[in-house]
Amino acid sequence: MMGPMLADVIDLLICPVCREGLARAGGAVRCGRGHSFDVARQGYVSLLTGSAAPGTADTPAMVAARADFLAAGHYAPLADRLARLCADAAVVADAGAGTGYYLARALPEGAAGIALDISRHAIKRAARAHPRVGAVVADVWRPLPVRDVSVDVLLNVFAPRNPAEFARVLRPGGTLVVVTPAARHLRPLVERLGLLSVDEDKERRLEEALGGRFARTGLDAVEVALDLGHPAVEAVVGMGPSAWHTDPGTLADRVRALPDPVRVTASFQITTWVPRAC
Ligand SMILES: C[S@@+](CC[C@H](N)C(=O)[O-])C[C@H]1O[C@@H](n2cnc3c(N)ncnc32)[C@H](O)[C@@H]1O
Ligand SMILES: [Zn+2]
Repeated sequence: MMGPMLADVIDLLICPVCREGLARAGGAVRCGRGHSFDVARQGYVSLLTGSAAPGTADTPAMVAARADFLAAGHYAPLADRLARLCADAAVVADAGAGTGYYLARALPEGAAGIALDISRHAIKRAARAHPRVGAVVADVWRPLPVRDVSVDVLLNVFAPRNPAEFARVLRPGGTLVVVTPAARHLRPLVERLGLLSVDEDKERRLEEALGGRFARTGLDAVEVALDLGHPAVEAVVGMGPSAWHTDPGTLADRVRALPDPVRVTASFQITTWVPRAC
């Protein structure tokens, strides 16, 4: 059966096949033309069409590492900052929401939240993250199953971006909030563990990618000093992009060689954007 969560956002969702509105129909959601999508028993719905999920979906191990790490509160200052940016929103969506951690914490009283992610493992958790979050499996690189001009704040935290679709779903005056790792993010783990480092050109590339559709309205930073024990170090590596590239045995050896705990900098860049009038 559809959980109460999806009920809060069903009016904001559209059929991925024909782009018509969706309504509940027993244990499924369905459009006027009869395209039907089962609601999983965990309360989320997959609005992916076809079978080809991209290889970028987070794996169960990555999702579990992120859930543990975030639950420990290490990145709470970032969540608090995002909550301030969402304070006046009635509808907040999160593209690449992962476990729904930031969306759940940023959602103001009475607002509805849409968590979008390609990873079922992540979205299962997002479905439980908050009573007013509706969790949807969707591919950010394809047309989003979200109505035109329906979203007040669109969050995008360490996740892929689709500028044309982000501009389409935002209301006039709505805000896109993008969080990217700053140059010092996870120092000194990057050097000591051989992790992927932040692309120095990231800021320019972000401007290039979004600048055609959006005007930047803000640039801000959140930096936190963390004293991480070795299990937390392993979690922070396991939840990030280096998890795809690092041999677990080598990594474990390098972690053992670190002080325990080790002082780590988490450094985030937050940019805000408004759609350009077209
Ligand atoms: C580094 S995680 C960040 C998750 C979450 N925003 C957070 O910070 O906790 C990147 C997320 O993007 C999702 N993702 C990757 N490719 C995607 C795509 N094409 N469409 C939607 N989500 C995608 C992954 O499954 C993963 O949950
Ligand atoms: Zn349809």
